[in-house]
Amino acid sequence: EIKSIINKAVQENELSKNEIVKLLQIEEEEILEYLYQQADKVRKKYHGDDVHLRGIIEFSSYCKRDCYYCGLRKGNNVLKRYQLKTEDIITQALEGVKLGYKTIVLQSGEDDYDAEKIAYIVKEIKAKADTAITLCVGERSFDDYRLWKEAGADRYLLKHETADKDLYQRLHPGMKYEDRIERLIFLKELGFQTGSGNIIGLPGQSQESLAEDILLFKELKMDMIGIGPFIPHQETPLKDENKGTVEMTLKVLAITRLLLPLSHLPATTALGSIDNYGRQKALQAGANVVMPNITASKYRSRYEIYPAKICIEEKAADCRQCIGGIINSLGRIVAIDRGDSLYI
Ligand code: SAM
Ligand code: SF4
Ligand code: FES
Repeated sequence: EIKSIINKAVQENELSKNEIVKLLQIEEEEILEYLYQQADKVRKKYHGDDVHLRGIIEFSSYCKRDCYYCGLRKGNNVLKRYQLKTEDIITQALEGVKLGYKTIVLQSGEDDYDAEKIAYIVKEIKAKADTAITLCVGERSFDDYRLWKEAGADRYLLKHETADKDLYQRLHPGMKYEDRIERLIFLKELGFQTGSGNIIGLPGQSQESLAEDILLFKELKMDMIGIGPFIPHQETPLKDENKGTVEMTLKVLAITRLLLPLSHLPATTALGSIDNYGRQKALQAGANVVMPNITASKYRSRYEIYPAKICIEEKAADCRQCIGGIINSLGRIVAIDRGDSLYI
């Protein structure tokens, strides 16, 4: 019966909430393998063996928000914060392009980094290099988003984190679930290739709400979807909670691939941080993207979203080489194009 649900998802790219929950409850090893294999097949059919690399620069660890799960939350006064200067961000981005990255992701805590400065950075990088630019700087005003689109930014990442409204409210003091969804819709309307995503294994998260996460990705037709496990951080209110599991993360990823064959799905750094082979497993269960770190090494340990994050000691060139090896070892290839949305 379970296999027939998987087969239906492969053929129709549609499932009900109940059917998704049934797949999330799979325990039998053989059926789990079947799910991952089918997701791998769908990935291959729509995306081939190409893996798209997105080089990520974590340009500021200052944050005015207090998300319960995150090590960058403002309540963490142990963390030594940093903010990169405009020119340093541009230099690091151009180094990333030299290493072969066709997408540069600029990510930060919610720092209120000057909108005009971000627009300038986008314009400068675009003028000097042939690369897509993805912004991931949280909830900002609609005017800021418009300014950055006009400056040439191509994509925007803003995970909805959890579709369970009550849980969202509890984990994000002072923030509103509706604001987030509204922004995702606005970003898409502006013409950004837009990404959402969720965290797997948040305390109090139900299987039903994970199913709703997946249905929301579909409803919003997200171009990119980041699915990573929750990893508890010592300096947060959730420090004593259990982390998300590799298995549940891979299940959500695989089901998402079956229902959204065209979307770009990264093998997340968080999954690679709780399992040495986490990214490899994700690449074989539906993922077609990896986001290696290209931030200058001296800052990496200070962007501690969660503990034991991989790639802290390495330099940009090390990660580029490492990830190329991983991709080739799986019989896959590093894509040479930008890996734009397949919906447009
Ligand atoms: N501040 C921006 C925002 O929140 O959208 C971008 C940076 S934020 C660090 C990027 C992502 O990190 C969040 O969307 C969240 O899913 C993830 N994250 C934060 N803390 C985490 C944790 N403890 N475990 C797993 N993922 C986490
Ligand atoms: Fe700040 Fe983003 Fe972390 Fe929330 S998830 S505390 S907004 S960096
Ligand atoms: Fe950074 Fe492997 S990708 S060390």
